[in-house]
Amino acid sequence: MKKKAKSDSKANPMWGGHFAAAPSALMQKINASIFFDKKLYAQDIAGSKAHAAMLAKKKIISTAENEIIQRGLDKILHEIETGHFTFTADLEDIHMHVESRLKEIIGDVSGKLHTARSRNDQVATDFRLYVRDAIDATDKSLKKLQSELLKKAEKEFDTILPGFTHLQCAQPVTFGHHLLAYVEMLGRDRSRLADVRKRLNESPLGAAALAGTSYPIDREQTALALGFDRPMSNSLDAVSDRDFAIEFLAAASLIAVHLSRLAEEIVVWMSQPFGFITLSDAFTSGSSIMPQKRNPDAAELVRAKTGRVFGSLTTLLTVMKGLPLAYSKDMQEDKEPVFDCVETLEIIIPAMSGMIADLKVNAGAMRKAAELPFITATDLADWLAQTFKIPFRQCHHITGKLVKKAEEKKCDLKDLSLKEMQSVEPKITDEVYSVLTLEYSVNSRKSYGGTAPANVKKMIAKAKRMYL
Ligand code: ARG
Repeated sequence: MKKKAKSDSKANPMWGGHFAAAPSALMQKINASIFFDKKLYAQDIAGSKAHAAMLAKKKIISTAENEIIQRGLDKILHEIETGHFTFTADLEDIHMHVESRLKEIIGDVSGKLHTARSRNDQVATDFRLYVRDAIDATDKSLKKLQSELLKKAEKEFDTILPGFTHLQCAQPVTFGHHLLAYVEMLGRDRSRLADVRKRLNESPLGAAALAGTSYPIDREQTALALGFDRPMSNSLDAVSDRDFAIEFLAAASLIAVHLSRLAEEIVVWMSQPFGFITLSDAFTSGSSIMPQKRNPDAAELVRAKTGRVFGSLTTLLTVMKGLPLAYSKDMQEDKEPVFDCVETLEIIIPAMSGMIADLKVNAGAMRKAAELPFITATDLADWLAQTFKIPFRQCHHITGKLVKKAEEKKCDLKDLSLKEMQSVEPKITDEVYSVLTLEYSVNSRKSYGGTAPANVKKMIAKAKRMYL
């Protein structure tokens, strides 16, 4: 049987003492948040349980009353989780639903739960708990993505492809190194989330409506019971601060930026003129008209969903801007952007993990793209400078002349004879031909953070220690 948390007078049963009539349908429509804030039911009940236990400990309510309230709240949790709870617009929000249902279950004792608190500190507490869970879940999912990137990097630690600047082939790099760049970005994302969590983890509960309370409450106790580090210091700030949500959305926006860049690369790599990777049927779709098509839709959607995440951040910044202290109903609009962002992260990060695990590298195509005339010209200049102690600027000039010679002959640098090279710089020996290879180029880039396969192996081990 569905239990309906209903009111028995026309005015609002929670705050309608001085109201005679019910709100207009439009008022109800604009005012009610239940159809989205019901998501906070578990946090709301946890907050109420901690609050009631504290009231009993401080003898503000009796032990027996607390026990009745605890049992009632447990029952409501069970009803909601098993789908035996009815949500209705006339009970505005999740806080009123829980309290109203508690009254139906345990009677008038339920009225004692709202001693020394307000929906203002209640919702601030619920929302912090929700965002904290979201941070933990996001961190876990980013860690999984890092682990997929590391697995692939391990496999492709010495696979050569062109590295780009301006999306123009610049110097050869290893694919393992390229993937590790994303491991670093995600590492910063995780550390940003950890920062947000630190600042978030203070309890607003007990700030009451805005000014604190005359009851001898113990805010330390409720804070610790809910896993917060401490109570917030200022009651006005406690009920009106949404920095934690904005910071979370800002961190999420950077996550979305990073994923969109990787998504874009997947789209480019998969495009036939590149042909660097393939994605299986699992992460692609076909075309209804062109039978040969295989499209990287999942990557494109990861790229596009960045817009929703930025939108959420902009929404909440705009909602909060210029609000006077302390609580204003504007702040009820804090939830949907955060919920949408969390739902988006819940899909885009795992989708990216899936694609990274799924993608097959076409090492031949990568290598072929890197085998461009002159792509190792920098290596030649560096070799001249290091081997013959010629100043780098001069070596750059010598190499430029050799490039010009090769261009005139319509060949690559390696196709110039030693004699031709020596006509430009007599010190050049036939070691030059090994210097011009792609392997020499990547192997030589052993500077800290460089692309050499030996480095990639070390950096994978380091990243595993740091992140997994
Ligand atoms: N549903 C409200 C919100 O999400 C709860 C707080 C209501 N407080 C008030 N003073 N009307 O913000």
